[in-house]
Amino acid sequence: MITEYLRFNTTTILCVIVPLIYIIYYRIFRYFIFDQRKKVTKGKTSRGKCPPFFPNGWYWIINSCDLKPGDVKPISYCGRNVVLFRGKNGNPYVLDAYCAHMGAHLGEGGKVRYNTCIECPFHGWTFDGETGNCILPSGENKINRVADKFEYHDIEKCTPKPDCSDKNNSYLQQIAEHKEVKIKKYTVREINGSVFVWYHSDDKLRESPTYELFDLTNELKIYNMEERGESINYVNCHVQEIPENGADFRHFDFLHQSILDIIFPFIKFDWSMTSERASHPQLNEIMTHPNPEVNAYKMRLLKTFINDSNRDLVNVISLNSYIQFFGKHRLFVFNATGFQLGPSIVYLFLWSPYFQATFFQTVTPLEKFNQRIMHRIFSTKPLPYWLTALMLLGEVKQIFSDMNIWNNKIFGSQLNYNMKNDADKSLHAWRNWYAQFYEGCYEYENKTLLW
Ligand code: FES
Ligand SMILES: [Fe+2]
Repeated sequence: MITEYLRFNTTTILCVIVPLIYIIYYRIFRYFIFDQRKKVTKGKTSRGKCPPFFPNGWYWIINSCDLKPGDVKPISYCGRNVVLFRGKNGNPYVLDAYCAHMGAHLGEGGKVRYNTCIECPFHGWTFDGETGNCILPSGENKINRVADKFEYHDIEKCTPKPDCSDKNNSYLQQIAEHKEVKIKKYTVREINGSVFVWYHSDDKLRESPTYELFDLTNELKIYNMEERGESINYVNCHVQEIPENGADFRHFDFLHQSILDIIFPFIKFDWSMTSERASHPQLNEIMTHPNPEVNAYKMRLLKTFINDSNRDLVNVISLNSYIQFFGKHRLFVFNATGFQLGPSIVYLFLWSPYFQATFFQTVTPLEKFNQRIMHRIFSTKPLPYWLTALMLLGEVKQIFSDMNIWNNKIFGSQLNYNMKNDADKSLHAWRNWYAQFYEGCYEYENKTLLW
């Protein structure tokens, strides 16, 4: 009787509970997502004098898997509203959100038509994602629509045009006849499972990106890495605060307490860091690492990703992490080689004797002081899912420490740097490097953004 009872229970455990635990485990940890859904809303609050708010560069907008053919999404980035859609041909397109006819939002109810076009939900005008041209409803022939253009003489006060003799027409004036209708088209790239959109203050460069994004396919293949999860957080601060954090290495020791520090007070994480622009003539010497394996890995990364076309736009960081026991013995945990590419993207390659992981980090300014941070983790296949989820959560914990500062600080246009201190010196050099992404932005923002 007892043996039968035990056998029944063992069978129940094996057949029901174990698969159930496995399914729950697999669903949670196979691709672990931390999404800070509550957006912070102090977006436009002034924080003193700041650099321009939307530096020139590539911005992450969505994961490829969240945009199926025929999908239409309203998106905000760099203080503007745009519509993102995937054509039936599989390509993603981004156009200005507002219809050139009467201003309806194409992302709110618009439909994908004729392979590459989006149809306005208000009166059905259709815009081609390839060009931004408005086309007549003529299927694939794509005949451009022409229209007459009218505008208010004085839209804010709505006063009639003084010298207009026709009273019925005096508020609106014709500014063009039979002109082709067009809306702004943005340049889009889809790479490493993400969709990016290009932003530039110079209209001539709006469709001609000055650099390209890194392709991680090969790198991930070499180490048999796969996507393991992502975190999304919203922050109230100027966009520069977030990438600048990586160059401010004194705050690692001070602000970022690790989980281990809290559990075991005799164990401490200890950091050392080097930051240098990729165009430095002695970059390889500066980045040399005493551990031959780390060094070989690092040199290969530099050779793979830095080239003449992106050298000026990349800043390289090398971060060493050690665990210190009882304030004496140091154990090397990992080295991270980071490539800051343009104003918003960081590729971080972790090499450790125990594991390997790659982080892809982006920040997208939605409004002046409203940033969305996305971090994705890739790791080697044998590493258990729960461990990569824990690594990601460990990183989220560090972001939360920074967020307490970011959400409340001012930008700090004047700083009291200690130039004898390595950290402040590299921060100073980093700010000089980052300033290149603001070229033309001040004038452009004053001209185009109404707040
Ligand atoms: S507002 Fe878009 S078609 Fe009229
Ligand atoms: Fe930080």
